[in-house]
Amino acid sequence: SDNPYDLVVIGGGPGGYVCAIRAAQLGMKVACVDMRKTLGGTCLNVGCIPSKALLHSTHLFEQARHEAADHGIKITGTVRPDLPAMMARKDGVVKANVDGIAYLFKKHKIDWISGMGRIDAPHEVGVALHDGGDMTLVTDHIVLATGSEPAPLPGVDIDGRMIVDSAGALALPKVPKRMTVIGAGVIGLELGSVWSRLGAKVTVVEYLDHVLPNMDAEVRKQTQRILKKQGLTFKLSTKVTAAKKTTKGVNLTVEPAAGGESEHLMSDVVLVAIGRAPHSLGLGLDKNGIERTERGFIKVNARYETTAKGIYAIGDVIGGMMLAHKAEEEGVAVAEMLAGQAGHVNYDAIPSVVYTWPEIAAVGKTEEQLKAAGTDYKAGTFPFTANGRARANNDTDGFVKILADARTDRVLGCHIVGASAGDLIQEVVVGMEFGATAEDLFRSSHAHPQLGESVKEAALAVHGRPLHM
Ligand code: FAD
Ligand code: NAI
Repeated sequence: SDNPYDLVVIGGGPGGYVCAIRAAQLGMKVACVDMRKTLGGTCLNVGCIPSKALLHSTHLFEQARHEAADHGIKITGTVRPDLPAMMARKDGVVKANVDGIAYLFKKHKIDWISGMGRIDAPHEVGVALHDGGDMTLVTDHIVLATGSEPAPLPGVDIDGRMIVDSAGALALPKVPKRMTVIGAGVIGLELGSVWSRLGAKVTVVEYLDHVLPNMDAEVRKQTQRILKKQGLTFKLSTKVTAAKKTTKGVNLTVEPAAGGESEHLMSDVVLVAIGRAPHSLGLGLDKNGIERTERGFIKVNARYETTAKGIYAIGDVIGGMMLAHKAEEEGVAVAEMLAGQAGHVNYDAIPSVVYTWPEIAAVGKTEEQLKAAGTDYKAGTFPFTANGRARANNDTDGFVKILADARTDRVLGCHIVGASAGDLIQEVVVGMEFGATAEDLFRSSHAHPQLGESVKEAALAVHGRPLHM
């Protein structure tokens, strides 16, 4: 068509920026609108990247304090965190990453429009520019990749100082003495770990009777046990009913989820991490006939098309796994579909990783899901205590569990608690993409001595014949 743009993407996070790059690679003229001052969305600015920077720094601190001696390393004097320096390093890591996306946009000749975007008409995106003024982008297609924001907890209002969301918890000016985390999900455990390692007394309050909902039950149990050993306190099956700010801190009223006697919990900082909600206000959805689900996610069909023709949506704003790499896959798929290619996302083989220490990684079905579906499966488990490299490294916490179809031997799921679990799971992800059986995994040579040999051993265990157990 004669429109100046083939594609305008609203949102420059992992979904949006990757979609823009892939579309440009395929020859489209693309603009990407984001209301932040920098590209990269939640993930690069206030999510994945800064949290991993702090997790790694605090892990090194933890090792220096508690593990150096085990390795015969003597540290004289006290090992102390330098919080401003740690935060400055984290900010530097974020800057390098977001600048990297701006560079990629230049390289692919993508127009980066800085401002708040909205849909004015089927082929028109209006932008309230950061630098003032308003502009209209006329385009063949529109992709909404506006992401998500922290879900609010009524009565526990974020003030950015005493009561914070994840963004606030990535930038606290000092280590709180007492910190309460509401929600034992991914954010709660990752950021709870960060501040606990730095010296905060962390209590995690969770509504359900377990941590990390949707994870495999064995993984949840081990995770809680290991984090408890690291100093985190868990108050499960508990709900927060009120928060009162006082000069001595935040006074939280908590009571059993099932009802009962309430008690008080004083903390210097409260982190609310009870999930994330789609970001779709002010986009002009209703006006353009773009429907949402009851929970506010934008409805899409199998081709990511919304209920308005030519307007697509991807990433956190359409729900499902709220993960950066899931958003990226969808971004690539939409760009390829717009170019007339197939475009496809295999939701059965998307890994999820929790970056605590040790890490937790999962792909495919959990044992509970297989049981509920009545699938006949076999499980094979191998503990890192039986892995030579894990012993050499002093990282023997955790295990690998592989679930395979009892009849066909196809791998249906894998669950790992352990050092580098997030890297280890990747071979299983690739295997699952190729329809691998447990035997395919264990017939593949695994370098020795590597933690990955535990994946091979777990696959052997599916067949009842591990070599080192
Ligand atoms: P987003 O990254 O949220 O990007 C959307 C962008 O659109 C934002 O920049 C927003 O400002 C912009 N926007 C919204 N509305 C408009 C508008 N009207 N006009 C212009 N711009 C607009 N995922 C992982 O896979 N691994 C991790 O380790 C991980 N860690 C995380 C840690 C934290 C603390 C948090 C909060 C999240 C983490 N996530 C992680 C989740 C991950 O950040 C999200 O799944 C991912 O960012 C979703 O990408 P997206 O492109 O859909 O949306
Ligand atoms: P989450 O959905 O992982 O966990 C929220 C937890 O809060 C759940 O356990 C839930 O039962 C609990 N909860 C809900 N309401 C509650 C209440 N009123 N009181 C007490 N507990 C309550 O959400 P979280 O941790 O906020 O993370 C949001 C999203 O960000 C996740 O879905 C995840 O996909 C993404 N993320 C991913 C990371 C990764 O991949 N490593 C890291 C951080 C976030």
